[in-house]
Order: sequence, then C-alpha cells, then structure tokens
Amino acid sequence: MASVSTIAIDGPAASGKSTLGLRLAQELGYLFFDTGVMYRAVTWLMLQRGIDVDDEAAVTALAEQVPIDIRPASQADGRLCDVIVEGQDITWETRRPEVEANVSQVSAYAGVRRALTLQQRRIGLRGQVVMVGRDIGTVVLPEADLKIYLDASAEERARRRYLEILARGGQANYDEILAKVLARDQIDSTRAIAPLRPAEDAIIINSDGLDADQVYEKVRALCIS
Ligand code: DC
Repeated sequence: MASVSTIAIDGPAASGKSTLGLRLAQELGYLFFDTGVMYRAVTWLMLQRGIDVDDEAAVTALAEQVPIDIRPASQADGRLCDVIVEGQDITWETRRPEVEANVSQVSAYAGVRRALTLQQRRIGLRGQVVMVGRDIGTVVLPEADLKIYLDASAEERARRRYLEILARGGQANYDEILAKVLARDQIDSTRAIAPLRPAEDAIIINSDGLDADQVYEKVRALCIS
C-alpha cells in the first residue's frame, strides 16, 4: 500500500503515537523508530551514574559519548523495540517512574538534542521508516513524506495511561497521572529548542473519542491516497 517512504508521527505524551506507528510500520514492512526511548535511555544512564539532572554539561557528555542501540523487539513481553546500552537490555528500565520524572528536563538540553537528533536523522534518511517523537516533522525529518500530529486531551491521555497500568497488574492514581501528563506537556511544549508543536504541513488528528483502530484507519488511508 506504500506510496510514502518516511512517515513522521509527533504528538504529546500518551497520545497513542507508538501504538499507531508500530502498526503502520508492521503493515508497510518499515522500521519503527520511537525516538523518545533515546531520551529515556540517556535519562536512565544519568540516574544510574549518579549524575545530577541539573548538571547540563555532564548529561550532554553522556548523550554525546554513549551509543544507544535501538533494535526490533526480541521478546514478546509488550515491548515495541529493544533498547540496548553498553550491551545491557534496558528496555523496561526506561519506563521507570524516576525516568519519567526526569526525562523532560533532560530532553530540553540543547546538547542532548543535538547529539540524539543527529543519530535519528541519519536513520530517518535511509527511508522506509515510521518515526515517532515530538519534533520529527519540525526538526529531525522536515522533509518527511507524511507528517501526522496525533493529539488528544490531557484527561483522555491520562485515562489511557491509567488503564494501561491497571491492565499490567499495577496500581495507579488517575489524578497523579493527570498531573504528570500536564507537567510534561508544559515542559515539552514551552522549551526553547524544538518544542512540541505540529509542523505547518502536518495533518492533525485528535483521537478523543476514537479507538486505536479508528485512528489507524484514518492514517492508513493517508498513506495510500
Ligand atoms: O514519547 P516519550 O514519552 O517516550 O518521550 C519521552 C520524553 O522525551 C518526553 O518528555 C519528550 C521527549 N522527546 C523529545 O523531546 N523529542 C522526541 N523526538 C521524542 C521524545
């Protein structure tokens, strides 16, 4: 069905970008690349090494020096890809609450973004890729063939996160999740460099009231039109 080679999907936290991107990549036989995991990997490494999140120079040096390897998922445990750093599989570590709490600050650092954007762009330019993030259509791959900006209200996104955690057998508090979603939106969309916003030529889809299948069908139609 493919008439597009590079697909950029941007949008706020928990808007369903990864679910949509993975499904699209599988159907097209393209690489699925969730760029958020790179910012999460740097954040995890920073915490692991006891580096202070306010120490911008040290956090930037980590992003510049430690290669982050993203590979297709090697296990069927709910992961969308493998995240490997220094030979260690840190896929689930990147989802930990302490990573969530610090990743927005790490991803606002100019040097961190420069280092990771470079790696992401190199992969994107090979084509046949569905790339998911916050600034793919605006900064990483502005020449992408198709740019989607997937939006949803903060309440709907918090509700989805809450149900996801319960489904995995965890415990969650909706109000706390909503507060975190709002805090991350605020940092991601107001940072000076590459803030979260739709590219001028992005197609904006609001998924409030739509299920994952309905969102997928809308985007699939755009890929073949
Ligand atoms: O999509 P995610 O929740 O895994 O993203 C984690 C963090 O990384 C989030 O705070 C925004 C940031 N991010 C970014 O700044 N640019 C990207 N291309 C992807 C993610």
